Amino acid sequence: MKVNSLQELYVDELKDLYDAENQIIKALPKMIDAASSEELQNALTEHLEVTREQAKRIEQIFQNMGEKLKAEKCKGMEGVIKEGAEILSEDMDENVKDAAIISAAQRVEHYEMAGYGTVRTWANLLGESEAEELLQETLDEEKEADEKLNQLAEQINVQAEAGADEEEPEVRPSSQQRRPKKSSSRSRRAA
Ligand SMILES: [Fe+2]
Repeated sequence: MKVNSLQELYVDELKDLYDAENQIIKALPKMIDAASSEELQNALTEHLEVTREQAKRIEQIFQNMGEKLKAEKCKGMEGVIKEGAEILSEDMDENVKDAAIISAAQRVEHYEMAGYGTVRTWANLLGESEAEELLQETLDEEKEADEKLNQLAEQINVQAEAGADEEEPEVRPSSQQRRPKKSSSRSRRAA
């Protein structure tokens, strides 16, 4: 079907993002289960709640436009999530797996940021100011989630790296291993 206007393209892209959000809602619980770091689990759980609201915002935009909302399969997100799911099924050291989960989650966030940045700009051009605000809100949340993952990666990547090359039989309490105080693994390595 020929897409004749930016308005039509905008509606199509929103349907695509709606499907992407719903795919994420299904995928996140599996990522949460697979994560070992409590902080990572909490961040993903929080983002699951946020994601449900983001899907509702798209529903609201369609309601305001008086358009019927039918999700359109987002193949891009399907691929990103599938790749993430493959990681979850692999046998990995728990810190390494957490690092892999962060990398998969950040791919999801960046894909969404590209999509929401675009539709937000189109909403502005099309004079859909209420939608523009809603989409900006979601875009801000995706950026925030990405930033949170960056912060978590700072510790988790170091732990993953330490686990791979340090074979010392030192026994650390497991809670400390999972949730070190800020930069404790760094100072341990530096010592
Ligand atoms: Fe989202």
